[in-house]
Amino acid sequence: MTTLAPTGATPQHSSISKKQFGKTPDGQSVDLFVLTNKGGAEATITNYGGAVVSLKVPDRNGKFADVVLGYDALDGYVNDKAYFGAIVGRYGNRIAHAQFVLDGKTYALAKNNGDNSLHGGIRGFNKALWTAKTLSAKDGQSLELSYLSKDGEEGFPGNLKVTVTYTLTDANALKIEYSATTDKKTVVNLTNHSYFNLAGQGSGDILGHLLTIQADQFTPVDSGLIPTGELRDVMDTPFDFRKLTAIGARINQDDEQLKLGTGYDHNFVLRMPMDHGEYLAARVLEPASGRVLEVWTTEPGVQFYTGNFLDGKTPGKGGHTYPRRNAFCLETQHFPDSPNQPKFPSVVLNPGERYHTITTYKFSTEK
Ligand code: GLA
Repeated sequence: MTTLAPTGATPQHSSISKKQFGKTPDGQSVDLFVLTNKGGAEATITNYGGAVVSLKVPDRNGKFADVVLGYDALDGYVNDKAYFGAIVGRYGNRIAHAQFVLDGKTYALAKNNGDNSLHGGIRGFNKALWTAKTLSAKDGQSLELSYLSKDGEEGFPGNLKVTVTYTLTDANALKIEYSATTDKKTVVNLTNHSYFNLAGQGSGDILGHLLTIQADQFTPVDSGLIPTGELRDVMDTPFDFRKLTAIGARINQDDEQLKLGTGYDHNFVLRMPMDHGEYLAARVLEPASGRVLEVWTTEPGVQFYTGNFLDGKTPGKGGHTYPRRNAFCLETQHFPDSPNQPKFPSVVLNPGERYHTITTYKFSTEK
């Protein structure tokens, strides 16, 4: 392991280092891994919940800022209810009435969001301690995290072996590769819940960020944020981000769906190409810094969430608090409530099959 160069410096080689982050309430040691690329970009990831704790990337003048929300100390993550930076599973997003049927058998899940199951339940993958292994990739440094979700955990069937590999590439991309296998038919939908602010975490709201989403449709929801089953055209709605539009341009419009989400909190149906590789899902530009984030994925959907539930009460990194809409999430995924929606792409994983998805957050700058 090499030592970490100061942020903003230009190391010749990428490196990865490990340090202690603290202990869980039940006494288990938790680590922090610092991945640095040859340009000096840096991703810090903990094996508690697999959370991305910080992500430092340059602006158009080469000045680095940390563009994700998070906490300075482990207890922030232990107590977190916002899923800052975390790996979300076994089922990212909501399952209506916290139940679904597979082969005629009804599975009852933990209810942690009104009557529904959200983000894997009461103790989702964001609260798991993952086994970490550092690896050198050909284009950067990788951290491989593994977790065994036992048969019956939070109500889900099957022992699910999960591996999530983060790679910080020398091209300023954070690539996330998710794999899983099961010994019983189950449902799986994994994502990462990073909250981005491209002007720097703690620097204010994200309403002036400019966004495009490659989606002609979205999935409207009911009052519990469960999709109604309809795929609705974005045309002539505040959900049309096919042309570059400020996130805040229409967010307070008198629109039924925006009211139900108290802002954007919706799944967009991505325009998927026929081949199965990664494709561009969304692009965000922060005009003042020139920082650009592109989200590439193999997934059919993305949850665009504007941090409507942030309330500025929980202390975050460096003494910052995070008021409402101080960050946005682009959670790549299969659609919410798919286990109960036969017309949505399937989230069923059978024994002998391998779940495998890739999402890459690519950072660059624009003049
Ligand atoms: C997702 C959900 C939101 C909210 C956040 C976490 O984005 O769709 O409704 O639960 O996670 O606060």
